[in-house]
Amino acid sequence: MKHISAEAFSSDLHKHLRAIGYFQKDLADKLGLHPKVLSRKLHGYGNAHLTEHDVRSIIIALAQWQVITTLDEVLHLLELAQLNSTSFTTQEWQTPPLSQLISRNSTHHSHTDYPSSRTRQHNLPAPLTRLVGRKEAVKQLRQLLGQNEVRLVTMVGAGGSGKTRLALQVAYDMADEFAQGVWFVDLTVMRDSTLVTQSIMQELHIKPTPASPALQSLIRYLQNKQLLLLLDNFEQVAEAATIVGELLTAAPGLKVLVTSRTVLHLYGESKFNVPPLDFPDSSIALDTAKLEQYGAVQLFAERARAVLPGFTLTAENATSTAQICARVDGLPLALELAAARVKILPPAQLLALLSRARLSVLTKGARNLPGRQQTLRKTIT
Ligand SMILES: Nc1ncnc2c1ncn2[C@@H]1O[C@H](COP(=O)(O)OP(=O)(O)OP(=O)(O)O)[C@@H](O)[C@H]1O
Ligand SMILES: [Mg+2]
Repeated sequence: MKHISAEAFSSDLHKHLRAIGYFQKDLADKLGLHPKVLSRKLHGYGNAHLTEHDVRSIIIALAQWQVITTLDEVLHLLELAQLNSTSFTTQEWQTPPLSQLISRNSTHHSHTDYPSSRTRQHNLPAPLTRLVGRKEAVKQLRQLLGQNEVRLVTMVGAGGSGKTRLALQVAYDMADEFAQGVWFVDLTVMRDSTLVTQSIMQELHIKPTPASPALQSLIRYLQNKQLLLLLDNFEQVAEAATIVGELLTAAPGLKVLVTSRTVLHLYGESKFNVPPLDFPDSSIALDTAKLEQYGAVQLFAERARAVLPGFTLTAENATSTAQICARVDGLPLALELAAARVKILPPAQLLALLSRARLSVLTKGARNLPGRQQTLRKTIT
């Protein structure tokens, strides 16, 4: 078995451990070695020696802890141990944690130059339905987020306007543009803004380290990464905006896409207003083919078909359908709720119900949105 000269390797290793507040004992525990055994190996006491297997295990442990985050650091450690990149197999280079290392010079490029065929990395939920319309919005958001100087984009819109759905699509489309992928953090049910850091860490599979505060560990992880975070429904935890600011300042390769009912008021924030789906002017009679070009009509018809398989736009229901879409201002959530009732109420009767409910009043103003959505649900469902 190959024996390694330990001195230079150990000294570099200790430097890394100190930087994150870890001790040799933590490493011994991780490797399943007695601390004394590791100590002897690292110092070359007696006839103890570091083996190639030890070096490999140590490097994997450091990479898992994100003590080392770049390819250069790994290659340097291997070199000090008189080894080279072939100590790891191609498969190991292509599997976490090694596949998550980045090349230090690659901050402004979308791929690394180490032996890995990177696949799209993300934790985005798979959509259950197709995205209706939104071609232009997707294009604009991709352009915006693609600009070097744009680091934070906040998608703002009324409750149920389709922010989350649109953001997920944009994030998915852009996954290849970030070396370490895109990560979705659902804050919908969160009420405690102090838990935001932990939620992000959980999605990124970052283990909290005993010696440093969570935010510090997160920053250390993100510092050398090119990654897009999608923070969904941020209005729940608005006070955590300062955390987002800190992360962006500390991690130059990080971008953040936020969905929220209000902006975060952070320096450098780009606001993107999520428009409703386009809907026809209900005062103009349009034939069914023309109507089907509108996103709101498509969404309504598709969801109606889900509950009533034979549903199509006909000369008879076209006007009512157009008016329903206008009545709810093209709001996707309202369209879905309305369409779900088509099974029992044909469009004309549904429209009559919605008209009585004066929904247009409910869709005005941003202040009482949660209440508005509840009223909407109560009226339609
Ligand atoms: N373009 C679209 N194509 C298909 N379905 C859509 C589209 N936009 C929105 N939806 C659907 O409409 C509903 C509401 O959309 P979404 O949850 O994205 O809204 P939101 O703005 O994030 O709402 P909230 O403010 O409550 O979080 C969801 O069921 C979603 O799947
Ligand atoms: Mg949402």
